[in-house]
Amino acid sequence: MDHSIRALVAVEGLDAFDVQRALPDDASFALLGMTEGVDETVRALLKDEPDLLVVACQGREDDRSLHIIDGAHRAAPNVPIIVLAASSPNGFLRRAFDAGAADMAIFPQTKEQLRFAMSIAIARHPGGHGTEQAGRKDGRLVCVLGPKGGTGKTLTSTNLATALALAGQKVLVIDLDLQFGDVALCLGLPPEKTMYDLAISPGGLDEDKLADYVMTHDTGVDVLLAPARPDQASALTIDLLRDVLVVARRTYDFVIADTPPGFTAEVIATIDASSDLVMVGTLDSLSLKNTKLGLETLSLMDYDKSKIKLVLNRADTRVGISHHDVVTVLGSEPEIFIPSDREIPRSVNEGVPITLSRPHSYAAASFHELAALFTGSEPATATAEPVTVKAEPRRSLFRLRRN
Ligand SMILES: Nc1ncnc2c1ncn2[C@@H]1O[C@H](COP(=O)(O)OP(=O)(O)O)[C@@H](O)[C@H]1O
Ligand SMILES: [Mg+2]
Repeated sequence: MDHSIRALVAVEGLDAFDVQRALPDDASFALLGMTEGVDETVRALLKDEPDLLVVACQGREDDRSLHIIDGAHRAAPNVPIIVLAASSPNGFLRRAFDAGAADMAIFPQTKEQLRFAMSIAIARHPGGHGTEQAGRKDGRLVCVLGPKGGTGKTLTSTNLATALALAGQKVLVIDLDLQFGDVALCLGLPPEKTMYDLAISPGGLDEDKLADYVMTHDTGVDVLLAPARPDQASALTIDLLRDVLVVARRTYDFVIADTPPGFTAEVIATIDASSDLVMVGTLDSLSLKNTKLGLETLSLMDYDKSKIKLVLNRADTRVGISHHDVVTVLGSEPEIFIPSDREIPRSVNEGVPITLSRPHSYAAASFHELAALFTGSEPATATAEPVTVKAEPRRSLFRLRRN
């Protein structure tokens, strides 16, 4: 959830008023207090239990802020510390990280940049849980992202999942669109058990328990459904999500995470834990711009570009944007093109993914191609017979790709 960040701010060697002016000032940010020195900061940390400590300082190598970082980190290791420095000589940076800083932002920064840096520091912070375990590699975790609603994220997640299952893989889909998740609808599954039930159940999590809370599709794809009601969304904590991802990767060949638009805390935590990313965009200038922004955000998060697969949905829509434009804007070539197909809304309404309802369509073939990029094998279904593509593919990107 994109709830507000409760932050404590320690100031060292800077004007407190200037610091306060630089901080986000909307409802998404709650300033619990401003402190000076180690003692006052540690006292406030223990009393207020903030989500985050910001240490605003000059960033000099002899900076007393390093004592604050060190003291705060020892007193409250669960609270991530982000350093806001006026400058950053290399020595300071290293010492701040050694002292326990989770991240560093250098002035000047916009309020939005700062807020984003804070959200990331919080989402990435391991809490009381072992990060080593989270890094254990077994099954692949594929996070499906898209810049806005309606781009085809859920379409892609559900059809990639069924295509992988048809190729013999053991697959789990996790619906991280916690408030408006529709994976259940797209797969025709009744919401008998959801991650809300998992979240409120007593005890820890292991493979057997996860199995009790998934719904199984006819193809064998398991699904951890989003809560049935938006108000239940907050039951899924980031720590539980991290545990679910770790346990799921031990059990499944592929864990596919369907996401809401935007970089919510859940999405950031999943991106961090993921082995692969699928970015779904559509062929209009707004979506392309937002897709580019999304890719830039991933690069800010240091996400390895080679692990990102670009999918262009509705790739044959004629809106005056050429293949060349797409590559120019995005800076890379989409790997998979999904055509517009009237059968797709129908398949969504019927709750049967297009890979099953129209297995010989171009759209189905596109999802098999995407699955094959992951399995490294040949696409499961022949692409030769486009029986259901209604839109004319002439001069389209889709056509360019096929020829
Ligand atoms: N290639 C397509 N051809 C036709 N309709 C599509 C296509 N892609 C998406 N749609 C329609 O758009 C709707 C939104 O897609 P969806 O995958 O739910 O988007 P998101 O999850 O990104 O919000 C789908 O229900 C479907 O009806
Ligand atoms: Mg969706």
